[in-house]
Amino acid sequence: MRSILITGGAGFIGANFVHYWMNQYKNDKVIVLDALTYAGNLASLEPVKENPNFTFVHGDILNTELVEELLRHHKVDTLVHFAAESHVDRSITGPDAFLETNIMGTHSLLKAAKKVWLDEDLLQGAEHRFHHVSTDEVYGTLSLEDPAFTEETAYAPNSPYAASKAASDHLVRAYNETYGLKTTISNCSNNYGPYHFPEKLIPLVITNILHDKALPIYGDGQQIRDWLYVEDHARGIELVLNKGKVGENYNIGGHNEWHNIDIVKLICLLMDECFANDSTLASCFDTAKAAIAGNSESLITYVKDRPGHDRRYAIDAAKTRTELGYEPAESFETGIRRTIQWYLNNEAWWQAVMDGSYQDWINKQYS
Ligand code: NAD
Ligand code: TYD
Repeated sequence: MRSILITGGAGFIGANFVHYWMNQYKNDKVIVLDALTYAGNLASLEPVKENPNFTFVHGDILNTELVEELLRHHKVDTLVHFAAESHVDRSITGPDAFLETNIMGTHSLLKAAKKVWLDEDLLQGAEHRFHHVSTDEVYGTLSLEDPAFTEETAYAPNSPYAASKAASDHLVRAYNETYGLKTTISNCSNNYGPYHFPEKLIPLVITNILHDKALPIYGDGQQIRDWLYVEDHARGIELVLNKGKVGENYNIGGHNEWHNIDIVKLICLLMDECFANDSTLASCFDTAKAAIAGNSESLITYVKDRPGHDRRYAIDAAKTRTELGYEPAESFETGIRRTIQWYLNNEAWWQAVMDGSYQDWINKQYS
């Protein structure tokens, strides 16, 4: 039985991980620490909020004393660190928050973990683990001919987001090498699935179609991303926690590379199909004029490219597969349909998140 502190558990991947974990490990104690920034939504934790093994703490990872208190109070043995500023576009217009949260925030957690687990020996010799959730973006960009990123690929981050994640990975490594903190790192490709904030490509396209808004394609739309269903990321982290070697990095990905323009066109096609097959959708989403007419693609609009836009990401997950037995469970064909259906079924979640009425909505849910 674990006592597991999950930072950023009200965000996209963190919330999906909490659901997955609490379903798999029913006796574990799960404590979520989240600052509830614009990207954090308590509504995403609705399915577990009544579980007696679940505790939510509204707080900042930069508050080292709070983290120490949580580690002691809950006798935490496992820390899984998701909390971050995560959107590349925001890192270009406002990098400071990325350095604060992703670098200083990670360091704050490492200091707290070292103090409580190593200096105070809270667990009296029993195992601890600090797992850091990172990204393939630390490796930089690939050309079409390059082999996919392995754990040996040199770090070459291009955006302030990627640079801040790279710095945090180095700090985690340093705490393992220098102090003997038992750390692991996973570097994962682009995730998609439920509870994804609609500023990222896939949920943005789905919700813009429902609002009949333009679908912005940066540059020529020929950039490539390697998409993984979010629950398969959770499975990968689970394997690293259960079988991974301390001090190691593990790549997680699903061999699923798509050009941006192709994925947007696919979503348009699937949205048109949903509207054609279910006549109730046209009245539920009467603003979705192009989808109702079976022509969502007409919303595609090419816009100015993102500065420093990485051309291609691709993960080679051979080490995670051979050492830990990792295989994604969801195919892209089924995962993308599940995701679209989730957004069609959960309008209250994304409308509230997007129009700023989230706080009112959550107050009603929790009153
Ligand atoms: P997200 O932006 O959806 O969620 C981040 C969460 O962290 C939010 O709940 C937010 O409130 C919380 N948070 C932010 N600053 C905080 C602070 N100072 N203290 C406490 N909580 C704070 O992010 P995500 O997409 O779920 O990503 C989670 C992690 O996975 C990140 O570390 C990211 O780098 C990594 N990652 C993401 C992807 C992806 O495709 N989204 C892929 C690989 C790795
Ligand atoms: P995003 O979801 O922001 O993830 P990341 O930048 O971490 O890969 O973007 C995925 C890809 O889609 C990326 O190449 C940028 C592109 N993109 C667009 O073309 N239009 C958009 O409106 C957004 C948000 C992204």
